[in-house]
Amino acid sequence: MNVDLNVKPHPAFEEIFWVTLEDGSRKLGTKNFSPGNSVYGERLIKFEGTEYRLWEPFRSKLAAAILKGLKTVPVCLDQKVLYLGAASGTTPSHISDIVGENGHVYCVEFASRSLRELVNNVVAFRYNMSPILADARLPESYSRMVEQVSTIYCDVAQPEQAKLLADNADMFLAEGGWVMLAIKAQSIDVTKDPAEVIRKETAILESRGFNIKQVVGLEPFDKAHAMVVAQK
Ligand SMILES: C[S@@+](CC[C@H](N)C(=O)[O-])C[C@H]1O[C@@H](n2cnc3c(N)ncnc32)[C@H](O)[C@@H]1O
Repeated sequence: MNVDLNVKPHPAFEEIFWVTLEDGSRKLGTKNFSPGNSVYGERLIKFEGTEYRLWEPFRSKLAAAILKGLKTVPVCLDQKVLYLGAASGTTPSHISDIVGENGHVYCVEFASRSLRELVNNVVAFRYNMSPILADARLPESYSRMVEQVSTIYCDVAQPEQAKLLADNADMFLAEGGWVMLAIKAQSIDVTKDPAEVIRKETAILESRGFNIKQVVGLEPFDKAHAMVVAQK
């Protein structure tokens, strides 16, 4: 089937779009904050004078979670977001697209090689992102570089991720702010049932004062992964 390419705002989420491709398939997309630049090989689409980037769910757990039925995406225009485990910037770059020129994405990453890629390939073209080489378990070590944020996104794929997220929230999250936690069950305990690991991590967030709004499984995009959305 050959159809005209078109782009429409997502009915539920600000600054997120549905792109219909020439073959009739539908993909998520965001408006490219840095026109002409692709971050991870994603296709760029020009429509009515604006450039969009396709948002690949097999590469970004946030896109996967949206396709799996997330009811709230607590990231929107003008927001400040703290991103823990930014790696080379795949998902952070889409968040940068969403928050736009008056928003900001603080990107914490402890692997210097990933951070170098993030700086050279992404941050260099996006003035609404700051790279921070630091261990997310030690939020006080970067407290002078991060202001108060309305959302914290955590994807460190490490044991104790719920605890480190809550510790960061104590320091940086505004009252009533939101957190998103991507849980990779196997990086916490390979011997345990993934559902059990996910329950344990959400229980930690609850014990630290978070109200769990939704837990979404990410299969088939990511095996044994879940996205938790919670509010303080
Ligand atoms: C699954 S990858 C993140 C992918 C990224 N969120 C995305 O979607 O584009 C996890 C990243 O977390 C980083 N990481 C793990 N533990 C960390 C810690 N304690 N502090 C900072 N970064 C950490 C790893 O180096 C890795 O780059």
